[in-house]
Amino acid sequence: MSKPIRIALTKGRLEKDTVGLLEKTGFDCTAVREKGRKLILPVPDANLEVVLAKANDVITYVEHGVCDLGVVGKDTIMEMNGKFFELVDLGFGKCKFALAAKKGTDFYSGYGIKTIATKYPNVARSFFETKNMDTEIIKIEGSVELAPLLELADGIVDIVETGTTLKENGLEVIEDVAPISARLIANTVSLKLRHQEIEKLIKLIEENL
Ligand code: PRP
Repeated sequence: MSKPIRIALTKGRLEKDTVGLLEKTGFDCTAVREKGRKLILPVPDANLEVVLAKANDVITYVEHGVCDLGVVGKDTIMEMNGKFFELVDLGFGKCKFALAAKKGTDFYSGYGIKTIATKYPNVARSFFETKNMDTEIIKIEGSVELAPLLELADGIVDIVETGTTLKENGLEVIEDVAPISARLIANTVSLKLRHQEIEKLIKLIEENL
């Protein structure tokens, strides 16, 4: 048997959904399910090695070719860009990027430069560039919803899933920015060198989506 194909999974929900998908495909993921604190786990019957990593690191490992494949959200892909192939929309991990502001705000009125708080400055910047709108982007690490409440920002660009966080904090969506879901990505060289194996895996995965 050739050396296993290494696939980096984004720890947490995407990891669980991917393991569910691999099991639906017929692979035994016992080692991943019973991982304890281990970070590299085999899926022997698929000749896969699962690497558990944070979203940004999934991209880093795939870009550098130490992992052949990765499962990561479109949000991280849009923010980080990078050199890799995006192969399959896996359909789970669905949410969206949206521009939000305090309820009742007439966001687009007035001529002053708007201040936008976000964990995703590149996404926010390119969204407003397409509108030819000058903005000041402020990077926030967590709970971006605080920024308009504390009057630091006129609006936020953030992930909205159920909308509960916005609602409970008196904010509302002004405009959708982009849909998000989990994507299967591949290292460019791995895809060339292990084309047949990867194609076979993709086919199995797509049949079970
Ligand atoms: C995300 C996002 C929102 C929230 C939206 O944060 O930044 O705060 O989820 O979800 P909702 O629309 O279902 O309320 P997350 O919980 O991932 O935590 P984080 O701030 O650590 O990224």
